[in-house]
Amino acid sequence: RVASPLATRALGLEAARSFSSSRSAQAKVTVVGAAGGIGQPLSLLLKLSGKVDHLSLYDLVGTPGVAADLSHCNTNGKVTGHKGASELKAALQDADVVVIPAGVPRKPGMTRDDLFNTNAGIVKGIAEACAEACPKARFLIISNPVNSTVPIFAEVLKGRGVYDKKKLMGVTTLDVCRAQTFVAENLGQSVNDTAVDVIGGHAGTTILPLLSQVEGAKFSDKDLEALTHRIQFGGDEVVKAKDGAGSATLSMAHAGAYFAIRVLAAMEGEADIRECTFVENDLTAAPYFATPVILGKDGVEKVLGFGKLSAFEQKILDENVPALQAQAKKGVDFVHKA
Ligand code: NAI
Repeated sequence: RVASPLATRALGLEAARSFSSSRSAQAKVTVVGAAGGIGQPLSLLLKLSGKVDHLSLYDLVGTPGVAADLSHCNTNGKVTGHKGASELKAALQDADVVVIPAGVPRKPGMTRDDLFNTNAGIVKGIAEACAEACPKARFLIISNPVNSTVPIFAEVLKGRGVYDKKKLMGVTTLDVCRAQTFVAENLGQSVNDTAVDVIGGHAGTTILPLLSQVEGAKFSDKDLEALTHRIQFGGDEVVKAKDGAGSATLSMAHAGAYFAIRVLAAMEGEADIRECTFVENDLTAAPYFATPVILGKDGVEKVLGFGKLSAFEQKILDENVPALQAQAKKGVDFVHKA
């Protein structure tokens, strides 16, 4: 198996600049939550990519400034800023891709599920606006808890008769970034030669890196456990180090921009784009499950599944499924009781 392009085409500034010389996708991408800790650098990376014909930035505050600032970057594509609920529909109108990092982040000691009470309502409201303004877009959900916000988004779209499971993707790319980085470090090899799939969900132990499938690697039991734990709880390292100022923003902006650009490339017709993402599928009894997929013109073209698991991974998976079912149900129930 070749190293995933996440490793070989990391979205550093130089890589983004070189993208900008290639053809821009004739696409409108809307970032919802664009003035936030993730939203700003994510919007910068999308602007630098030159792959976005119209970058539309929405937030409750700050977007006129962010948009004016980014619009001076000499890369392809126009930038517009939209502020406040009355401008949400215009921001979303006819978008091809909507990337959503809106909502509150964690503070030390919080789990992603602790964000549910605030973020569930935010994501529900955004989904309602999307159902009206851009029902055919590809939706990339970053807002946590992803294990529940993706089901919330789906449930709203279903209620409006515009749900397409191929087009709703929870962004779990940061788990893949962390897995590749930590595994490369452990093996003493370049991250460019390291590919790791991460399946399951996007919270604590629901994150399952498939270390048994890392080409050419044989980990000791101790390393296996330590690496798995570090990938599952890598987000906590950042939350702790930021000491109350939030969670991962820069690495998430990188991961989110990378994933959005892969979705755009697939939309343009590039073939064989393989990424992990949290989508509806029937691989397990959990309704939504992160898995490698092939991206195509309309989002997820093919769910690839995850191959043979080691006994260690199977045990984690068996524990994951009921947790993912419960977190999905919590989201679905929220939509129906609200
Ligand atoms: P932040 O607080 O810096 O930014 C959030 C932005 O969302 C703010 O600008 C805020 O005004 C905006 N916002 C709030 N309600 C909104 C609404 N109704 N419509 C539009 N915008 C709204 O937070 P940060 O650090 O950017 O994190 C955002 C979300 O991303 C959090 O839920 C966090 O947990 C999640 N996250 C997800 C990751 C993943 O791997 N999927 C990784 C890291 C964070």
